[in-house]
Amino acid sequence: MTTDLNAGTQDPVYVTDALIAEDIDAYLEKHQHKTMLRFITCGSVDDGKSTLIGRLLYDTKMIFEDQLASLEKDSKAVGTQGGEIDFALLVDGLAAEREQGITIDVAYRFFATEKRKFIVADTPGHEQYTRNMVTGASTADLAVILIDARQGVLTQTRRHSYLVHLLGIRNVVLAINKMDLVGYSQERFYEIVKDYSHFAQQIGMETFLPIPMSGLKGENIAAKSTAMPWYQGPTLLQHLEEAPVNDTRLQDYAFRLPVQWVNRPNLDFRGFAGQIATGVVRPGDAIRVLPSGKTTTVKSIVTWDGDLAQAVAGQSVTLTFADEIDCSRGDVITAAAEPCEVADQFEATLVWMDEAAMLPGRPYLLKIGTQTVTATVTEPKYEVNVNTLEHRASKTLGLNAIGVVNISTDRAIPFESYAANPDLGGFILIDRMTNATVAAGLIHFALRRSQNIHWQAVDVNREAHAAQKTQKPAVVWFTGLSGSGKSTIANLVEKKLHALGKHTFLLDGDNVRHGLNRDLGFTDADRVENIRRVGEVARLMTDAGLIVLTAFISPFRSERRMVRELMAEGEFMEVFVNTPLDVAEARDVKGLYKKARAGNLKNFTGIDSPYEAPEAAEITVNTVELSAEEAADRIVAAILAR
Ligand code: ADX
Repeated sequence: MTTDLNAGTQDPVYVTDALIAEDIDAYLEKHQHKTMLRFITCGSVDDGKSTLIGRLLYDTKMIFEDQLASLEKDSKAVGTQGGEIDFALLVDGLAAEREQGITIDVAYRFFATEKRKFIVADTPGHEQYTRNMVTGASTADLAVILIDARQGVLTQTRRHSYLVHLLGIRNVVLAINKMDLVGYSQERFYEIVKDYSHFAQQIGMETFLPIPMSGLKGENIAAKSTAMPWYQGPTLLQHLEEAPVNDTRLQDYAFRLPVQWVNRPNLDFRGFAGQIATGVVRPGDAIRVLPSGKTTTVKSIVTWDGDLAQAVAGQSVTLTFADEIDCSRGDVITAAAEPCEVADQFEATLVWMDEAAMLPGRPYLLKIGTQTVTATVTEPKYEVNVNTLEHRASKTLGLNAIGVVNISTDRAIPFESYAANPDLGGFILIDRMTNATVAAGLIHFALRRSQNIHWQAVDVNREAHAAQKTQKPAVVWFTGLSGSGKSTIANLVEKKLHALGKHTFLLDGDNVRHGLNRDLGFTDADRVENIRRVGEVARLMTDAGLIVLTAFISPFRSERRMVRELMAEGEFMEVFVNTPLDVAEARDVKGLYKKARAGNLKNFTGIDSPYEAPEAAEITVNTVELSAEEAADRIVAAILAR
């Protein structure tokens, strides 16, 4: 027999003896029409979380005979619960199994009752695990926040509640657990409820349902407590069975379908496939495709089982249109009269989830709905201390930090505020080099300035400027350690080009840092901003038709790539001045290495600040093998050969 209590987010089929004994069709039929409630439990093992989940699984008969036998045996052996079954052993046992493989931070468990199917996301409760909670909570209909009745509201209770509320979960159960250890005291229960209400008010939480319970004794979990006759409300399970699920609620919103892919098997058929985020759609409905804004009507709703007369939020469908209008992956199909917004700058809350802190100005990938774009983040407007709710100034966001920032994307995207529609207002940021998810974000609103600033079309354009100079504009980007010879070689290259009648300009680190970038130092964040500004300036100079030479350490691949992407294909040449650290240090033209080694100069590249060598530079020159003159000749030849 195989039992699997860990479930994915789809509707899984659980292979159990019960299932095999039963007619399989009858089994699937029985569960198919039930609604699915997704919920998250927040709390630590100390609050009795594992015991509570174990109890739920036990009382709903999701523990199978052989597991039960071993559970009873283990409980006796451990003997901590005075002869009662220790349900925590079941859940923690599964956790231990999981940890043998790759660490999965969020465990999903499945169970069902006569009325409903459930998926519970169980996240580690430790303070550091904000990111796990965000992952678990992002699809939840409801949250169970656990409190140990002896402890009352703790810092972590506040942290969990803040995150749950931030992520838009409006159905919160305050599970006041271990009531058996406070003598089932009604007074204690009210004391905690009152305490929690104060905090709930501060974060704007309008309602919550407090339930006094004991996971260990099974009081108010599945069965009504006899020890607490003063409590008149529902048991936990009753509430879970009756709480509204998002899928139903989302149908009341305006129609939105983010396009996952365009299905074009032949010239006669073009369908747009995806999962409906909100609303309802029927053939004949007027729709609008964003960001283009083009309109048409729905011709048909196609599925494997034939065409539908209507489809609702949560369903995956393919739409065909009455007219041939452009629509591609990442676009959002909306109700024509109620389109969502389109913008390229937003204010958003970010939950930072990476060990490496956020770098303002660095380009990250932003994935929203079915769309991926490039985005940069400003310095945080403020960071939120989740424990005290205080706002504080911050230059960056570290692991698990939450802050409010402005984000700008490289093109306009359809969106909604997260509060209105989590599918179109929630996004993740991905590091372009490591591919790791570094942050989860929630859009607040579009910045007005992105709607009011448009490109000014000019008549004397970049082609006209370049044609007059009879040259192809370019950015020749020198990168390498301090003292590697960038400035020396770039200077020689410029002299040679100038002598050939070319129109050039040299931007040099030491010089630019006296003017335009006078406000920047040498932290990672400042270096990112240094390169961002220089990249923009270089790009403007190529619009003027110039061949621009730049000499900056530019230690990070990410920002060099950002500048490359500002330029047209073939207009960016990366020149790696490859001088080994010991050689540059031995030369020490400015005496800076000596200072850095002595500890008198912090964040010095190559000493206590990293340098990421190019992986695919157009030209690499080794200054140990070549003289500066020879290096310059090679580079000039390459520039002219374009
Ligand atoms: S970058 O890293 O942001 O690209 P940039 O090329 O502008 O650096 O400036 C580097 C120059 O600043 C060096 O050549 C050196 O003269 C000077 N400098 C002063 N402090 C540092 C430091 N901590 N690290 C590197 N260069 C420094």
